Amino acid sequence: MTTTPFYRYDIGLLKRTLEVIRRQISSRPDFHVHYAIKANANPLILNPILEAGLGIDCVSGGEIEAAIKAGFSPSSIVFAGVGKDDWEIDLALENGIFCLNVESEAELDVLRERARIHGKRVRIAFRVNPDVDAHTHSNITTGLAENKFGINLELLDDLIAHTITMSEISLEGLHFHIGSQIVEMEPFHELCQRINTLQKKLKSVGFTARHINVGGGLGIDYKEPEKHPIPDFESYFNIFKTELELQPGQEVHFELGRSIVAQCGQLVTKVLYVKENPGKRFAITDAGMTDLIRPALYDAYHKITNLSSNEEEQLYDVVGPICESSDTFGKNRKLSKVHRGDLLAIMSAGAYGETMASQYNLRRLPSSESFETH
Ligand code: LLP
Repeated sequence: MTTTPFYRYDIGLLKRTLEVIRRQISSRPDFHVHYAIKANANPLILNPILEAGLGIDCVSGGEIEAAIKAGFSPSSIVFAGVGKDDWEIDLALENGIFCLNVESEAELDVLRERARIHGKRVRIAFRVNPDVDAHTHSNITTGLAENKFGINLELLDDLIAHTITMSEISLEGLHFHIGSQIVEMEPFHELCQRINTLQKKLKSVGFTARHINVGGGLGIDYKEPEKHPIPDFESYFNIFKTELELQPGQEVHFELGRSIVAQCGQLVTKVLYVKENPGKRFAITDAGMTDLIRPALYDAYHKITNLSSNEEEQLYDVVGPICESSDTFGKNRKLSKVHRGDLLAIMSAGAYGETMASQYNLRRLPSSESFETH
């Protein structure tokens, strides 16, 4: 077996998830899903996503390179981000990607200059900050006026009027993203209403976008992953099918990350020690916050199970070996009695797990393997 700690991906579950998405959008040739590669860029994961015909959502030059290397067509790549460096813009231009999502006037100026140097016309969308509360963790909400993302609604009209006169720029889309791990459907309803209002307003001043990108954000069930291994894509897509008022010929693009890959991945870790303190029992694992930072960074809950024991349950704090108190995967967790050498699975770790790993404490990066359930 692979050395612990390692990520284990259920490619069967990933394929079933992709099939549900395919079925939901099959009646809508105007719907296009781009997988947000920031969630997980492991080639084991990218291959089935490529085969399912999804495009890619990138936020860095490194991600564009990884997507192209994995076989995705540049014409399926969207590129977002508040701080695109010149070389990243050049890479996007050289490869002729589908669209750059522009987040500020300052960025637009640089884009014009790079386009002129390359002698190319660049396709862009404006990322609009719709000021919708996603009711999610404050570190992963993005669509509020106070967040750094997107262009303020009040500045948009003038910027559009200015941009459509530019010969280097082809303004083709409007882009929105309100946040991540959104588990209520209400914010998505609200987003549709905001987009409809904005579209009417822009139409009256003579602008109609060729495509609307509604971002990602659909959440997953971290508490009971076995009950909901595949998120409710039907309700999610239905909102956009029924509520978004589209202009003739307009396309809708989605950028889903977590909802596609989170439940397919587990972090498998070995218990190094069981430490008994008065009133507290610790299971000390060989995985740490360097392998999966979500609990330390967002206080995120991941279900943990003991793969090696069926004995009676006891309470444990499951902690890593790193010199930080926040290096804790879960407190007061009920686990089948834990022994040194047992393997624990930290569930729902397929998104923002491996891609956020670091080498703090000069640790090794986690490895990975795949299996396929049917
Ligand atoms: N589009 C844009 C512009 C984004 O910023 C994001 C995620 C997505 C799409 C994909 O969102 P998703 O469908 O995965 O929710 N590291 C955090 C999540 C950060 C999300 C950043 N943006 C976590 O572990 O919860």
